Amino acid sequence: MAREIKSVAVLGGGTMGTGIAGLCAQRDCRVLMLDVSMEAAEKAMERIVSGRPPVLDDAEKADNITLGSLDGDLKKIADYDWICEAVIEDLGVKRELMARIEPFRSDGSVISTNTSGIPLRDITNGMPKHLRRNIAVTHFFNPVKVMRLMELVPGTDTDGDVIEALSAFCGRTLGKGVVHAKDTVNFIGNRIGCFWMLMGLHRAKEARDEGLSTEMIDALMSGSVGLPPTGLYGLIDLIGLDVMDFVGKNLAQNLPAGDMGADFIALPAAEQAMLERGQIGRKSNGGFYRINKLDDSSKVKEAFNLETGDWSNAEEVALDDAHSNLDVMFADDAMGRFCWHVMGGTLSYAADLIPEISDDVVNIDCAMRWGFNWKQGPFEMLDALDPARFIKRLEADGLNVPKMLGVMRNAGVETFYRNDGREFLGRDGNYYPIPAE
Ligand SMILES: NC(=O)c1ccc[n+]([C@@H]2O[C@H](COP(=O)([O-])OP(=O)(O)OC[C@H]3O[C@@H](n4cnc5c(N)ncnc54)[C@H](O)[C@@H]3O)[C@@H](O)[C@H]2O)c1
Repeated sequence: MAREIKSVAVLGGGTMGTGIAGLCAQRDCRVLMLDVSMEAAEKAMERIVSGRPPVLDDAEKADNITLGSLDGDLKKIADYDWICEAVIEDLGVKRELMARIEPFRSDGSVISTNTSGIPLRDITNGMPKHLRRNIAVTHFFNPVKVMRLMELVPGTDTDGDVIEALSAFCGRTLGKGVVHAKDTVNFIGNRIGCFWMLMGLHRAKEARDEGLSTEMIDALMSGSVGLPPTGLYGLIDLIGLDVMDFVGKNLAQNLPAGDMGADFIALPAAEQAMLERGQIGRKSNGGFYRINKLDDSSKVKEAFNLETGDWSNAEEVALDDAHSNLDVMFADDAMGRFCWHVMGGTLSYAADLIPEISDDVVNIDCAMRWGFNWKQGPFEMLDALDPARFIKRLEADGLNVPKMLGVMRNAGVETFYRNDGREFLGRDGNYYPIPAE
């Protein structure tokens, strides 16, 4: 019989735990939220109700949430259909907790971990088969209430009805865009997004050597190529250089041999020096940008010069028509070279990751639109650019043609989507209907 989720036990009351618990409560589910102590759980509840912004739209929905501590109340999970682990990103902590919940949860319940990048097989390695059949990764994006993407990842032993139940609940009840990913490092969104960021930092050094400023680099890596206004440096300020360093170290351990990302996992020297002096972004007193409060208490945004170490007022950059759309990648100047390297490199990377991280282009495009707010996913961008023209440039640069572009070329077709976006190119070279959400 198909499993149905109506109640959720969320383990961990941090950023993600409060986001998931709050969203489930808002959608009228019964929620248990456990944290390291009752005090921590109560603080988490305060953030759900009165954080800035609050997680709940209707404060009275807080009545759907019961609080408790992981030590005192774990046995209560027996009453819940979905046990959703959202504790710190630490393999040892996650494994220990999984071992503790298994004896308490009821038959028929499903378990998930909200890891951002630890392979599920590492979390479940050596655990009882009963647990391995009932667990998946549910990778929500922050803030949970706002971000549409949820990557759903089965392990090798996960039962099909576990995936069906989580997909139905997160899609229909929580309103998420469910993307089916595989148990590979960083799944889909972060695999491609972190490649874009880390490679972008390295390529930006060359662009700065060619005279481009911090602000120009961000102008090129935002609206003009269909990416959010934060750009490259602005997004990394938001995430934190400490997190990027952590991501790089996880990639170093888990990327498959020969992966293009391996060249960019260590921070470039200037960013490493920023990390070491604590200049890590918005959560410190600035990173690539800072807000400076003047004597008259007005505020001014300043940009950091990585070469000189000086701060100066951030400049507004207006790009001309030739540099304000995806075609900028083909411009024969410093801006064009930077965009070709970073966006062209990222599109090539994505096109080489099928079937490793996803069986089709649709899941990859949805992940980048819903999780990173890209206007178009990588394959939609390639269609907009004209894949044949893209291949020609790769060949002119002496670069390999990535797998999915090779599939397209061998099939003798010209686009990844056809029929007004209703069909996509499969990896066998045939077109298939886009699955209904
Ligand atoms: N924050 C994000 O942007 C984001 C996005 C996607 C996924 N994730 C993943 O979600 C998970 C939670 O991240 P977060 O941002 O909510 O972290 P957080 O630091 O905000 O919260 C961590 C939670 O873990 C609890 N905790 C700490 N030590 C513990 C221990 N030893 N045993 C049990 N609980 C412990 C804390 O009390 C807290 O409730 C991580 O695996 C993270 O990688 C985070």
